[in-house]
Amino acid sequence: MAYKDVYEGWKQDPEGFWMDAAQAIDWVEAPSKALFDKGDNMYEWFADAKVNTCWNAVDRHVEAGRGEQTAIIYDSPITHTKRAISFVELRNRVASLAGALRAKGVEKGDRVIIYMPMIPEALEAMLACARLGAVHSVVFGGFAAHELAVRIDDAKPKCIIAASCGLEPGRVVHYKPLLDDAIEQSEHKPTFNVIYQREQEVAQLIEGRDYNWHGFQFGVEPAECVPVEGNHPAYVLYTSGTTGQPKGVIRHTAGQLVALNWTMKNLYNVDPGDVFWAASDVGWVVGHSYICYGPLIHGNTTIVFEGKPVGTPDAGTFWRVISEHNVKSFFTAPTAFRAVKREDPTGEFVKKYDLGCLEQVYLAGERADPDTIVWAQDQLNVPIVDHWWQTETGWAIAANPLGIEELPTKLGSPTVPMPGYEVTILDDAGHPVEAGTLGAIAIKLPLPPGTLPTLWNAEDRFKKSYLNTFPGYYETGDAGMMDEDGYVYIMARTDDVINVAGHRLSTGAMEEVLASHPEVAECAVIGVTDQLKGQMPVGFLCLNAGVDRDHADVVKEVVTLVRKQIGPVAAFKLAVVVDRLPKTRSGKILRGTMVNIADNTPYKMPATIDDPAILDEIKEALQTLGYAKA
Ligand code: COA
Ligand code: AMP
Repeated sequence: MAYKDVYEGWKQDPEGFWMDAAQAIDWVEAPSKALFDKGDNMYEWFADAKVNTCWNAVDRHVEAGRGEQTAIIYDSPITHTKRAISFVELRNRVASLAGALRAKGVEKGDRVIIYMPMIPEALEAMLACARLGAVHSVVFGGFAAHELAVRIDDAKPKCIIAASCGLEPGRVVHYKPLLDDAIEQSEHKPTFNVIYQREQEVAQLIEGRDYNWHGFQFGVEPAECVPVEGNHPAYVLYTSGTTGQPKGVIRHTAGQLVALNWTMKNLYNVDPGDVFWAASDVGWVVGHSYICYGPLIHGNTTIVFEGKPVGTPDAGTFWRVISEHNVKSFFTAPTAFRAVKREDPTGEFVKKYDLGCLEQVYLAGERADPDTIVWAQDQLNVPIVDHWWQTETGWAIAANPLGIEELPTKLGSPTVPMPGYEVTILDDAGHPVEAGTLGAIAIKLPLPPGTLPTLWNAEDRFKKSYLNTFPGYYETGDAGMMDEDGYVYIMARTDDVINVAGHRLSTGAMEEVLASHPEVAECAVIGVTDQLKGQMPVGFLCLNAGVDRDHADVVKEVVTLVRKQIGPVAAFKLAVVVDRLPKTRSGKILRGTMVNIADNTPYKMPATIDDPAILDEIKEALQTLGYAKA
């Protein structure tokens, strides 16, 4: 079948399409139907089924006689460690961990926060929660204690599972003191913590509150898989919105199982037993869907890679891992390829490895620039697939479905909508626009299985953020267009979200931190174009009247503050003091125009600007930082 037939087949009979895909899942009680319309534009999938994620990701492969197949390969150039875990070992380890959590009171529906680096134990912790029907919420290691505290207060976990430390090149990330600090800051206190002690750092445990990962499993009964309803939350993953309060994206159990399993063959073109590698982090949605759940549910071997594209030890690391572990499909962020390309433009490292096993490469997380795609095509000689999705959707909205048909690549486009997604470009009034016209990218409701049904504890915010602007549609927050052939083009965000090295960040959250500095009267943060990271945040500060301090000192202080409050991942290093900010007469800061000035892209003088002369001051300020040089 061709892509068109599959997509049309879904459109003609979505219920049949998803019920068919659902057959690949082991149900305790099969769903009676696929879509459940809850009214008011709210939908759920396979809600009346009974099922367990861990069973489908682990146990069923053992039962099917594949217990000796490797489930997880841990490859850590940063600690010089490699390890393989078979499905049967994984089953035993996860059952034991789940048993120990249960013995301490963790039950179906309880939340568990996981704060761990890229080690197999992070996946085991996720799967142990899934085994019990507990709802995990993984927090990325690059976030500071305050961000962790915000998530603790929102998710109200019974337990936190953490590692003693993470390892960044040249630096140990002390997870345990960050965890202690977060618990100190949060109002909600978890009942207990489980700490995985790494060789590189042994954390101090607080008696009666913190338990050693190994010790607390000693002598407990392993836990069996607990069946949960199809609409039971599998996890909550926080993602950046417009404010400092992150959005808790919920993933329902059954929809995730069906959708991710469908993507593994149809999109990523792997069969059970093949090795699939997503070089991301469990703290992001890519880590949830394609390091942990997708490949394991489908019976693939997944790779947990603890390293960087460059510097661990060199720009050949990706190619070594691919060739050594026989990777068939590889998934990374364009920024990672840009980092490799910068160090090895002519692919000298590529030539050192036999990459015969590699059949296709997938890029996502940010716009894939044509230069990077062409470089990867030239170096690797396999299809390079740009695909577009979000934490909210959990899997690709638009892609080139290689397992169905390889469609021609158009540089700058993540190809075509996947079955389940009716992508529509709308004008400001919510009317569909003609092919080739820019607009807001929306998706006709209902969204397919595996996407967010709502936000954790925040249904109103869910409706306000995604459903209210264009009635009957999900608002993606991205702007772009579709061409005559139905190819989608993603051009920009319509909100204050920026994308730094494939990490989704909120400029609004950074502004809240800058504004908390006692000498800052007003501020703005924008994302300027960066050759390596895609975008970089730049802060503008207006100081209180009468403040007579060296500007460099204030800048240093706010840089430290953002690192301390949000974390190193914000990559907030650039700020400048200005007398005033450009605004409309109604007081709205003209961030978009400031970005145009920084990037030297043409812009129209905003008709409602209060005082056009301010733009020259902004240009001068940006020039001191090395931008707006034209
Ligand atoms: N724990 C703690 N700190 C972390 C971290 C983690 N898991 N991940 C990143 N950081 C820190 C980095 O050490 C860095 O700190 P520094 O300011 O002290 O140098 C800071 O956060 C910024 O990190 P990053 O923006 O990632 O820059 P980098 O220079 O370390 O690496 C790349 C640049 C391009 C190599 C890297 O960003 C990369 O591999 N990106 C791919 C992103 C990705 O996979 N995204 C997921 C979507 S698919
Ligand atoms: P995240 O939720 O972190 O996955 O970030 C989602 C956002 O990243 C999207 O809304 C887009 O703005 C951007 N994004 C992800 N993938 C792509 C892509 N392939 N092309 C362009 N932008 C992308």
